[in-house]
Amino acid sequence: MADRRPRKVGILTSGGDAPGMNAAIRAITRTALKEGLSVIGFYRGYEGVVNKHYTELERKSVANIVQRGGTILRSARCAEFMTPAGRDKAADNLRELGVDVLFVIGGDGSLKGALALREHWDGQVIGLPGTIDNDLDGTDYTIGYFTALDTAVHAIDKVRDTADAFERIFLVEVMGRMAGFIALGVGIGCGAEEVLVPERDFELRSLINRIQDSRATGKLSCIIVVAEGVVHRGVKSLDERITIHDSSMLAKEIQRETGLDSRAVILGHIQRGGNPAALDRMLASMLGTYAVEAALKGETDVMAGIHAQKRCLVPLAETWAERKSLDDFMLHVQHTLA
Ligand code: F6P
Repeated sequence: MADRRPRKVGILTSGGDAPGMNAAIRAITRTALKEGLSVIGFYRGYEGVVNKHYTELERKSVANIVQRGGTILRSARCAEFMTPAGRDKAADNLRELGVDVLFVIGGDGSLKGALALREHWDGQVIGLPGTIDNDLDGTDYTIGYFTALDTAVHAIDKVRDTADAFERIFLVEVMGRMAGFIALGVGIGCGAEEVLVPERDFELRSLINRIQDSRATGKLSCIIVVAEGVVHRGVKSLDERITIHDSSMLAKEIQRETGLDSRAVILGHIQRGGNPAALDRMLASMLGTYAVEAALKGETDVMAGIHAQKRCLVPLAETWAERKSLDDFMLHVQHTLA
């Protein structure tokens, strides 16, 4: 807990950008200004702190951005900041600029950086969960997750049309790093026949059996949503001779075995862009205001999140200490409805 009222705050967005980051910047800026604090925004995440690349933020600087994807402060992964010398430099700059509180909007790497910075700097750090992956523990949702779901679901609706027309199997690879939150949400939202997530083991042989059974019941097409973490980890080929690390290869293996036309679609970075969904705007706005109010109460080394419809402050280290678990009931729903 800090013992004196902050006067100046800094904001940065770091790591993979997420729709809603701008809404969070706006909420932090406007709440802080209303409380009489001055606000600066660092460009390109920690790189802006290390190299003193920043801008003053005023009410008007954040006008008309609540609806925009990306981040007006840009984002990056800064190699220099990962070294103790880089963090020392960042800490010196924060002291020189008179920053009392640093708000870090990003995923687990960015929040780890925030806590590491505290070993060099005695200001306050408050994290906001900004990642489409929804993989930070302690918060039910992260800023950007809802938009990524919508983007992927709409894309897969289109894939479904052509899959039906050609009676094909489609593997659709979605993002999420080593977590399956995007895949599971999207799978339910688009009525996928199968969802493969890194949190659960799966066997290619039984997947193929299920595809063949479903074809036998007269289903025209089959959508398999694959979390990228599944292919990054690798899938054993049917003869167990090789490990497949690529969705297109996996589609070929399925085609070889079933004789059914199969294709792979990798949705990629479209999931990170676009106008934020209303839920992401709401979450980002709420957490931005809440984070500033927490800072004024002297809080530090915490992430502002939401759990069971209640705002919460989670110690930074707890947001990555354990793997956030997928909801078993959601998996059950997907299996039941597929
Ligand atoms: O963490 C967000 C994310 O989009 C992940 O889902 C994905 O694995 C990664 O970032 C991609 O990173 P990059 O944009 O550096 O390729």
